[in-house]
Amino acid sequence: MVLCVCLNFLFLHPLQCLLQLSWQIFNVALLIFFVKAQTCGRAGASVNICRFCKIRPFEYFSSARVLATATQMLIIEGATCLEIERVCLKNIGVVTSGGDAPGMNAAIRAVTRIAHSKNYRVYGFERGWGGLITNAFRELTPRSVGGIIQLGGTVLHTSRCLEFESEEGVGKAAKTLDLHSVDGLVVIGGNGSFKGAFELSKQTNTLIVGVPASIDNDVFGTDETIGFDTAVNTAVDEIDKIRDTAISHERIFIVEVMGRTRGFLASIVGLTVGAEIILVPEVKFETAKIVRRLEENHAKGKKSGIIVAAEGVGDTRKLGAEIEKDAGTEVRLSVLGYAQRGGSPTARSRLLASLFADKAVELISQENGNSIVGLSNGRIEALDIKTSCETEKPIDLSLLDLATVLAS
Ligand code: F6P
Repeated sequence: MVLCVCLNFLFLHPLQCLLQLSWQIFNVALLIFFVKAQTCGRAGASVNICRFCKIRPFEYFSSARVLATATQMLIIEGATCLEIERVCLKNIGVVTSGGDAPGMNAAIRAVTRIAHSKNYRVYGFERGWGGLITNAFRELTPRSVGGIIQLGGTVLHTSRCLEFESEEGVGKAAKTLDLHSVDGLVVIGGNGSFKGAFELSKQTNTLIVGVPASIDNDVFGTDETIGFDTAVNTAVDEIDKIRDTAISHERIFIVEVMGRTRGFLASIVGLTVGAEIILVPEVKFETAKIVRRLEENHAKGKKSGIIVAAEGVGDTRKLGAEIEKDAGTEVRLSVLGYAQRGGSPTARSRLLASLFADKAVELISQENGNSIVGLSNGRIEALDIKTSCETEKPIDLSLLDLATVLAS
């Protein structure tokens, strides 16, 4: 290039010379741009140049093709395939943590396949935070996550990890991320998992994105969590059966559903099974009022009834005994329990899992971390993870009033 510039000065008009110089500078800048972009492993359609790994050419400007190819050859000649892979491939980790929820597998599958399509290698950490602490992982590939979209639970397993509650435990997890040069970590879980993820984000440079999955639906920043719809449908199926026996025996049934300290599951399940009474932790109840409502129903000809109670309202066995005594009617308790956490995810849970995963990988590829993804008024949005952890999700109590009218 230097020789070319010197010759230009000798033989050309100064203006032509300036133009030539600019053109040469532009070419060099273009070459530098491609070397930089190539080492980051971004953009372009994938074409096999090397026998062992895929290097991506740039197809945006046709005039740049020759340069791009030259750049790729340069990189390939100067390094082993493993080195090239290290330079070109980025890493995403995925972990499922806390209580499992139907649809977690659909989310693992989607994260893996979307990340692969963007040229990421995917590490699946096993048994929740425990896997990050002990470096227990397996590489996930588009093939290894085949056939799991319809499975309940999580193929990566999960746990409630006490060690992760200490700063030391979080530090160990941060070291594991460092060891594998994990650029982004997708945390699939609920509130508790996101609190852990937020603590982890303070000790690592890895970009952390939360994907809300919990049957409790209590995560601030999303109208719905993965698994909630499935749990609602599971509970509804069970309660429909209980309704048959309640009518036959003219009994009152208390059906306890999960939800931890919140009433999201109970309110939707209660409304959709036509429960006569719904009890949620967000509203204090009086046994005398429940007895009065049941007596009014009895007077109207309703001799049986379903009370859907969230587990967070307290001792449902004691409540049943009190109602039986005061109302003078037979009361039975049915605790639905862990069946609500299992089963094949509904189409809705699978769809949410796929959309959330897509957004999570997109955020990481755009170098946006410390966030969660969520459904907000029909759109998939991102929200700061700290805000999500520190804000209580509001519950729509008007649903309880509507349920009362519908069950009258
Ligand atoms: O958070 C999901 C959930 O199923 C809650 O509804 C329930 O209170 C809790 O997990 C049970 O936790 P564990 O699996 O630790 O018994």
